[in-house]
Amino acid sequence: MEISEKMERLEKNYESRFGNKESNSLSSYFPFSEELAQELLNIYDSPLYVYQADILNKTIRRITKAFLYPHTQFRFASVTNGNISLLQIFCAAGWGLHANTPGDIYLGLQAGFSPEQIVYSGSNLNRAEMEQVLNWGVKTLNLDSIAQLQLCCEVYKSFTGSFSPRLGLRLNLPEITGDSRIGVRPEEFADAIALTSEVGLKLSGLHFYRGTGTNATAAFTNVIDQVIAIAKLLPDWEYLDFGGGFGYPYNHESAAFNWEKFGTELSDRMSCLETNIELIVEPGRAAIAGCATLLAKVVSVKWQSEKQIVGLDTTVANLSVPAVHGGYREIITWKKSESENYLTDVCGNTTYSRDYLSRNCYLPVLEIGNIIGILDVGAYGYAMSSHFLHRPKPAEVLLKNDTHYLIRKREDYSVLLSNQLFK
Ligand SMILES: Cc1ncc(COP(=O)(O)O)c(C=O)c1O
Repeated sequence: MEISEKMERLEKNYESRFGNKESNSLSSYFPFSEELAQELLNIYDSPLYVYQADILNKTIRRITKAFLYPHTQFRFASVTNGNISLLQIFCAAGWGLHANTPGDIYLGLQAGFSPEQIVYSGSNLNRAEMEQVLNWGVKTLNLDSIAQLQLCCEVYKSFTGSFSPRLGLRLNLPEITGDSRIGVRPEEFADAIALTSEVGLKLSGLHFYRGTGTNATAAFTNVIDQVIAIAKLLPDWEYLDFGGGFGYPYNHESAAFNWEKFGTELSDRMSCLETNIELIVEPGRAAIAGCATLLAKVVSVKWQSEKQIVGLDTTVANLSVPAVHGGYREIITWKKSESENYLTDVCGNTTYSRDYLSRNCYLPVLEIGNIIGILDVGAYGYAMSSHFLHRPKPAEVLLKNDTHYLIRKREDYSVLLSNQLFK
């Protein structure tokens, strides 16, 4: 896209969300007040991940209410955020957990989920990990390949626990799952059924993952019948696991995933089945993205021709999605400016060539010490932060009932030595 075209589009988006770009009427869009942002930074320092329990609970309620089918279970995909205090909010709301990895299970158990509430739907476990998953008591496993199913069955043969796992397959069908490495084709189901029955287990579940971050509701509703028809190929079919991949409108003026429409259509179809099939819904980012803001402070401002170059006290290592994975996150500032907004690059505190938190956004003239907020960072935010660039990770704070709670400490430099051995 031509730069001029991009600028025009950015300007248009900015105007449609915030009104005239000269007006700076941003106040309706602030997640909380500047006073609170300042107070939090005074207490916990900058940069800081701030989560709002009321927004999270509202989203959980909205998704839950969208499904009237009585045999529906929700499993939060903790790959998006593994903070124990946030997992406990999902647990208290009656949701379970989708585990992508054994680490997700470990965190889920620490947060208070029972093993029955955890569904493992990951990929490529080795034998020791498969044993660990069963030993933790996880009963529902959606396997990604015949080889993983075989491994699970072999491990089960020498399993000394008191339960039989409930096994399902992740579906791979390019017409509806896209070009994905994940899953098993329907023509492999017969082999899968033979494998499980050999060890006295049933293959009773189908897991459908539509691909990541899709806001087009029809991409999900259009395939419901096809997914159900495929699930019926399993003679012992007991459950259908749907998700994640449900989109979140990071670009706030773009179309958002319609939970009510999806929930209604899926509930209707499930209700028409002859038997009570359990429905598992696995929202990831859609459940948690919108409840968090990354606060940071401006540490440097310079101008290159007409463009403002703002330096922050955070980095892509604290929030990798915008620069490293090409995702968009809205940046706001509480700064009231008399002047208009200017084309701005928002940069991290390293010289890494991709250390941008935003490029070509429009912000007022900023000064050192101003606070900025990067919105919608609840999913794949802290969870994807790293020690790349050797900056310790920020703290995390939860706002709940007009109080703030530290839910993860800020790291210090000692973390950079963690597990290193001096020779
Ligand atoms: C099976 C499954 N469910 C849920 C998710 C969460 O995805 P999203 O955040 O796109 O909803 C993932 C992501 O890896 C997944 O593999």
